[in-house]
Amino acid sequence: MLGRLLDLHGIESVILEARDHAYVEQRVRAGVLEQGTADLLGEIGVGERMRREGLVHHGVELRFGGRGHRIAFDELTGGRGITVYGQQEVVKDLIAARREAGGELLFEAEAVSAHGIDSERPSLRFRHGGRERELRCDVIAACDGFHGVCRDALPPGALRLYERDYAFGWLGILARVAPSSDELIYCHHDRGFALHSMRSPELTRLYLQCDAGEDLEAWPDERIWDELELRFAREGWELGRGPIIEKLIAPVRSFVAEPMQHGRMFLAGDAVHIVPPTGAKGLNLAVADVRVLADALARWFATGDGAPLAAYSDTCLRRVWRKQYFSSWMTSMLHRQPDDRDGFQARVQRAQLENVCSSRAAATMLAENYVGLERPDQGTPA
Ligand code: DHB
Repeated sequence: MLGRLLDLHGIESVILEARDHAYVEQRVRAGVLEQGTADLLGEIGVGERMRREGLVHHGVELRFGGRGHRIAFDELTGGRGITVYGQQEVVKDLIAARREAGGELLFEAEAVSAHGIDSERPSLRFRHGGRERELRCDVIAACDGFHGVCRDALPPGALRLYERDYAFGWLGILARVAPSSDELIYCHHDRGFALHSMRSPELTRLYLQCDAGEDLEAWPDERIWDELELRFAREGWELGRGPIIEKLIAPVRSFVAEPMQHGRMFLAGDAVHIVPPTGAKGLNLAVADVRVLADALARWFATGDGAPLAAYSDTCLRRVWRKQYFSSWMTSMLHRQPDDRDGFQARVQRAQLENVCSSRAAATMLAENYVGLERPDQGTPA
């Protein structure tokens, strides 16, 4: 995304990708685009397939106590909604656009290391196609994820880390079966959280809360379907089963590193913050980061005005913490707390859910944050 934005500003960039082309186009991740993210893809000329194949949703269901309650985004946010379109589809569209524009994109870049970050000419060394190479640049954008190499290249103490680990994870599947509902279902149950999502009219995406460090081996297909059925149980509703074509266990964690810049390195997306998955904010947050970064770089290169670039970290962190708040709010409202011995927490959660479903103000808070009402360049509501 950053590469595309820089292309449009006429700024040359090279993208180093550790994985191969097929891998990044097939890697299944979340698939909920906030209104602002979907709009941006359209504005930068990569939204055509998304408009054709993406599923626009104007609400979600909260399910608890065997009943469903719809949160109507359009009504609560002045007509806004979300687009369900897989992250790997966004990646495919961006790669195609990059190729068409002739921008450099090197797959299978190995042993990448960053140097001279405190100088005016930082560099990246790496191996590609059997050759050792060095890239001298004006700026390094660290968009290399939580396990990337850039963050670790910073001097000790350069970043302050904030972290939360949760005592549970998510087990996710992709199944070849029509979705059992037109909209997403966030389900709270004494046995744990479950989520019904989708990728297309033929593909259903489902998640269930499991223990942290759970082993996939312990979850044969039959057990997954039975557990999902128990949690989603609601009179007159049936969960369709089909062949499972993807199975994964994802950790649930929160992480923020501050500031999001050091010298000539600017950190974005999962390289500098992780939100718990409830609410699907990770991709949207990463897109928002690089939008701010691209605009700030464009200003600096064009006019020499470095003020927006100097403000990059502060500008982004306001939004990062807003999303961190929303994601942890959704997570704590919906998941079974493993240390809830007498069921006190579960009862408070039920009361909280009833509040969200009966108070227009509470429902609006959820809807606004879910569709993403903040202006992309600010942390405050539009
Ligand atoms: C999906 C993932 C999420 O984390 C979420 O909150 C909603 C949907 C998904 O993969 O479809």
